[in-house]
Amino acid sequence: MSKDSVSPDLTETVSVCKTIDELRGALSAVRQHNSDSTIGFVPTMGALHEGHLSLIDIAQQKADIVVVSIFVNPTQFGPNEDFQSYPRQLQEDVAACEKAGVDIVFAPDRDEMYDDTRYLKIEIDTLNVHMCGASRPGFFEGILLVVNKLFNLIEPDFAVFGLKDIQQVQIIKQMVREFNHGVEIVGAPIVRANDGLALSSRNAYLSPEERTTAPSLYRSLQYIEQNITSGVTEPSLLIEHQKDELEAKGFKIDYLNVFSDKTLSPVTTLSSGERYILAGAAYLGKTRLIDNILIEL
Ligand code: PAJ
Repeated sequence: MSKDSVSPDLTETVSVCKTIDELRGALSAVRQHNSDSTIGFVPTMGALHEGHLSLIDIAQQKADIVVVSIFVNPTQFGPNEDFQSYPRQLQEDVAACEKAGVDIVFAPDRDEMYDDTRYLKIEIDTLNVHMCGASRPGFFEGILLVVNKLFNLIEPDFAVFGLKDIQQVQIIKQMVREFNHGVEIVGAPIVRANDGLALSSRNAYLSPEERTTAPSLYRSLQYIEQNITSGVTEPSLLIEHQKDELEAKGFKIDYLNVFSDKTLSPVTTLSSGERYILAGAAYLGKTRLIDNILIEL
């Protein structure tokens, strides 16, 4: 174990594991201590904020032991994305986990998780065709790869994911079904700043001016939602109008649409009794923002 890892009974101090062996040691100590204890897992890429902490809170309510992983996963970043500049602040994150009462932090290096030669890859058939998958090739395959590895290493009873990344949640639920992982996926509500902006580690990239504009994405989603819940069944024109308004404020829209919550494909005519995801992604300067609202008609 690293020098940060201390308490053998894992109840007072967070145990920080940098290697798979350390993680396995910490987990088997927990399982030996109490074979009935359930494990809740919160995977993250660090730069922890209130959104991540809300997931930890949910994990604590559902399970006896909480494991948080902190790993900026290289396989989910495209060549022109922000892997190098993604915020890294392990010490602060460990302190936040400790304060939140997390039992084990798994914070491996890249080499601990990946060999240079890999002969297998995970392929997604359909669920990544639209939404974020459309503009980020390889993104969800990279996520499935790392989450699959983390599930195999930790074997949690519950894993908590934020609904902010709704496509991630749906794809991981599908992986769990198809790969028979023995874990229950729990979706956690989106945590927002007072002005409505969904919290994100990437919000740190926004200039003060962009930060003032950023909540408009959520406001547009709310406006479309209100129209849909008051009876609009063909929202395309309304959506186009909101896109124009956002573009005029300086956003560069990637997508803004209503999607089926099952197939994650765009839907043009809405019917009652169905569940939809009203979702958008847009750049403000170099920062990519995403947000969504679940609609049940
Ligand atoms: P990361 O972006 O660090 O997010 C970790 C978890 O926090 C995800 O489940 C995400 O949906 C959730 N989260 C982020 N902001 C949130 C907010 N405002 N409200 C509620 N939950 C929020 O998502 C990833 O990392 C990675 O893809 C990962 C799953 C760790 C795989 O590498």
